[in-house]
Amino acid sequence: MQTSRIRTFHRRRFLRVLTGSSLLVLSGPAWNVNRRAIAASPTDIARSPVITSPNEAINVFDFEAAARERLPAAHFGYLATGVDDDATLRANREGFSKFQIRPRRLVDVATVDMSVELFGQIWKSPIGLAPAGSQKAFHPDGEIAAARAAGARRHLQILSTGSTSSVEAVRAAHGGPLWFQLYPTDSWRITQALVKRAEAAGCPVLVLTVDLPAGRNTETERRFARADTRPCASCHQPGLAGFVRRKPMFDGLDLTGVSSLLAPRLTWEVIGRLKDTTRTKLVVKGIETREDAELCVRHGADGIIVSNHGGRAEESGRSTIECLPEVVQAVQGRIPVLVDSGFRRGTDVFKALALGAKAICIGRPYLWGLAAFGQPGVERVLDILNWELELMMRHAGVTSLARLDRSFILDTRRR
Ligand SMILES: Cc1cc2nc3c(=O)[nH]c(=O)nc-3n(C[C@H](O)[C@H](O)[C@H](O)COP(=O)(O)O)c2cc1C
Repeated sequence: MQTSRIRTFHRRRFLRVLTGSSLLVLSGPAWNVNRRAIAASPTDIARSPVITSPNEAINVFDFEAAARERLPAAHFGYLATGVDDDATLRANREGFSKFQIRPRRLVDVATVDMSVELFGQIWKSPIGLAPAGSQKAFHPDGEIAAARAAGARRHLQILSTGSTSSVEAVRAAHGGPLWFQLYPTDSWRITQALVKRAEAAGCPVLVLTVDLPAGRNTETERRFARADTRPCASCHQPGLAGFVRRKPMFDGLDLTGVSSLLAPRLTWEVIGRLKDTTRTKLVVKGIETREDAELCVRHGADGIIVSNHGGRAEESGRSTIECLPEVVQAVQGRIPVLVDSGFRRGTDVFKALALGAKAICIGRPYLWGLAAFGQPGVERVLDILNWELELMMRHAGVTSLARLDRSFILDTRRR
């Protein structure tokens, strides 16, 4: 009896490992029945079926399994990866548990307003789409589908330099003011051309990403790529020329002498230089310390995004929700502070806003939605997060984002 129970336990664990593996390529209803049948605990039973339509999703995590099932292993690896041991990736999630919410009672919360103003523009929600390159690797409609979803819900979207759709097309699909994220490359001539094009397309805000001055060690991505037996060379070609082949922001640009999207020589003077080049606002993405926040303000940046690139840049081991308070304190309200990395729940958003962020951005959650179902997937991800945030605001007695402050948070690291 004892032996057979142990055998059953091990068989279930083995099957669970298999079902979680993208090496096992199964799809459709039979696959879902199998997953349900082998689930081992009530939690697993609740979690295991892979959703087959956006409306089946109970939370945003449900989209990850659906994305994994649909994407080739190498593309899922690109989406999922952190760096080194993925410790910062995990820290981004764990960080939220260090901050607890202090709800207030008996407040009339019949009406809740989640709108936020950023550089004169009102957004319906404080949840924006973070820049992510190569979205056609996740869905044929790529950034356009994300833009239609964000536009329909009146959410901010930031378009990556490494986008697989042009800034003009994405701006049109979104319908509202798109922000443009800049990887400056190691050529000022190219930087200027990218900035001018984004400005001409109607982008009012430029987001300069500063957390990737060098390459990165994306081990998880490489392991997934090994499991992908398709001939990658038919799409991916080596070098910068190969990389930008399907990146319309580089169409028509002479890349002679340019070696990389990365800019290892960049220093603080770039802020002034960019501000002399464009009339758009300039937001610096990838700030994690009070010292750099102070330097951003001193050099004239118009905003900051606290970010560790979703644990995809350096392996700092530190979550952005833990970095946020020191950045907010250094900035002293002089410029807006946004934050991203690891946001998966309305309560995560609530905590960041209470700690002083003006808005937050999501990366992987909307990319999971996109990979799984295109535009409707992204819309459902946004709907779930908005609903969860609204629910938390009601529970905490908060009727508008302006009323949210640090008094709603207990920082357990200080106990
Ligand atoms: C697949 C993928 C591609 C990304 N590409 C870019 C990019 O081109 N530019 C950039 O500034 N950040 C990029 N990021 C980082 C995101 O903008 C954002 O900081 C991060 O995804 C937030 O963490 P989260 O995925 O845990 O929500 C990318 C992230 C992912 C997952």
